[in-house]
Amino acid sequence: MSIIIKTPEEIAKMRVAGRLAAEVLDMITPQVCEGITTEELNRICHDYIVRVQGARPAPLHYRGFPKSICTSVNQVICHGIPGRKKLKKGDIINIDITIIKDDYHGDTSRMFYIGEPSVLARRVSELAHKCLWLGIEQVRPGARLGAIGHAIQRHAEANRCSVVREYCGHGIGRQFHEPPQVLHFGKSHEGPELIPGMIFTIEPMINAGRRHTKVLADGWTVVTKDHSLSAQWEHTVLVTPTGYEVLTLSPQATP
Ligand code: MF3
Ligand code: CO
Ligand code: CO
Repeated sequence: MSIIIKTPEEIAKMRVAGRLAAEVLDMITPQVCEGITTEELNRICHDYIVRVQGARPAPLHYRGFPKSICTSVNQVICHGIPGRKKLKKGDIINIDITIIKDDYHGDTSRMFYIGEPSVLARRVSELAHKCLWLGIEQVRPGARLGAIGHAIQRHAEANRCSVVREYCGHGIGRQFHEPPQVLHFGKSHEGPELIPGMIFTIEPMINAGRRHTKVLADGWTVVTKDHSLSAQWEHTVLVTPTGYEVLTLSPQATP
């Protein structure tokens, strides 16, 4: 399977899908606080996506995933399943939203702090955000896909953190996960050349400790093997003739 180059009509639909995904995060932000359960966050997002946006939550029943969003708390790297545990002061949480509108997907995630984070929690979260943007800034026609992972790995490791290898970014469009796989590590000259009209996610998972992962018995929840904190930010990015366009920017504020 090769990388799909999106037509102008498809790009227009991807812009809508990306904006809607970002708006779900904007909507949920004031609710992400001490005492709320991740199941409640799931329900609020689900209802907003379906009733307000007239869209669908892509994770629900995707390969058997049971909920509409992913909520990954503290040492959970990704694919956390919303449940009955209440968020408490000092927790950090990644909320990952993927919606389908008019047959096209938008995929984005952000970190949130519950109360004041520890110095380390803030550091790993800010580092993951910086890594995402260093990756995005590599995107332009003629660059290789590997330039993204190289920039991310270099910065993460220079700051004594590690990059998760088992999970990666992905092409996105009509399908949730399309080629190519966007690695968050590697060499600049490796991988396919970027061409205008390609759309993929960049979503580095950065661990405060070692990079190794473990999947819990539920078959989904990915945690750090050494129980260290993990952080992730994600955007959906279009390759343009001159560089990049981030399709999941918040119409409100936070990049
Ligand atoms: N949104 C995740 C990603 O960024 C994928 C979640 S898969 C699910 O690719 F099944 F857990 F939803
Ligand atoms: Co995602
Ligand atoms: Co993704």
